[in-house]
Amino acid sequence: MSTIKDRIALAQRLPKAELHLHIEGSLEPELMFRLAQRNKIDIPFRSVEEIRAAYDFSNLQDFLDIYYQGMSILRTEEDFFDLTMAYLNRVRADNVRHVEIFFDPQGHTERGVPFDTAISGILTAFTLAKAQFGVTTKLIMCFLRHLSEDDAFKTLAQAEPWLDRIEGVGLDSSEVDHPPSKFERVFAMARERGLKSLAHAGEEGPPDYVREALDLLHIDRLDHGNRALEDEALIARLRKEGMTLTVCPLSNLKLCVVEDMAAHPLKHMLDLGLKATVNSDDPAYFGGYVMDNFRAVIEALDLSEDDIRALARNSIAGSFLADGEKRAHLSAIERA
Ligand code: ADE
Ligand code: ZN
Repeated sequence: MSTIKDRIALAQRLPKAELHLHIEGSLEPELMFRLAQRNKIDIPFRSVEEIRAAYDFSNLQDFLDIYYQGMSILRTEEDFFDLTMAYLNRVRADNVRHVEIFFDPQGHTERGVPFDTAISGILTAFTLAKAQFGVTTKLIMCFLRHLSEDDAFKTLAQAEPWLDRIEGVGLDSSEVDHPPSKFERVFAMARERGLKSLAHAGEEGPPDYVREALDLLHIDRLDHGNRALEDEALIARLRKEGMTLTVCPLSNLKLCVVEDMAAHPLKHMLDLGLKATVNSDDPAYFGGYVMDNFRAVIEALDLSEDDIRALARNSIAGSFLADGEKRAHLSAIERA
């Protein structure tokens, strides 16, 4: 068996896709300060160190409270552009060639920032990053599940002029007590509009929420899915359907979904034949980007070269790229 260092180098070298990334969760403290100054907004922190020290969470809600507070400094189209460019520039170093990015429009419209301001800034960065770095991107609009169904319908209506630039809809925010069934009708309308369907499920919520996401939202991809492992029939179904799981190891550690990295289920998921992938979720809050996540699981779970290649392949195969684009990336993985 090769050394851990060799296996980390392999993970670095392989072309990869990131499929679970909230753009608002890539807001680094340094950029938060710069934007707060530019927009003349007071923030309750005096230094980058003070901000980082506040990132100590005991569950999802703890994090979400700070995350919504952090994103409140995003006001102008330029802010969303700078945020998105910073992330796309950063992941070049990890050899991430394709990204499917979530954004939370309601986190902005709720505080008076127009839908069009946020999406315009993000999409302009997509275009420039493709031209400058060759990275490809897709955009997924999430509904905040702690808000109402009616609110989600309003958000879908605001997205109407942009539908040719939006790949799918997702479901995020506080999971427990906000099951997928609450959004069955708005997801049905989104699918009628040709959008793909995704949902965070089984992060903190029970296996039944994963089942609802499959049966009622007809998801094309499952975000997290950790707690599906508590249910044998569900495991068999996810395997049979070839469902891609976007797993986020450092996020799971920071939000106490797992006790320590050695107890992370990623290796077990692969051994069960599930199509798991490695993602950063909210890298500015959870201690790292895609390669930081790979490094953490390779070390803690002693992943093999085959595991690492499978993770890279799953990220491409589970993306919404066209078949020809997938084939090109997959053959580059075989050659690497
Ligand atoms: N929004 C941003 N990150 C999230 C996560 N890990 N779970 C649910 N909602 C989120
Ligand atoms: Zn997430």
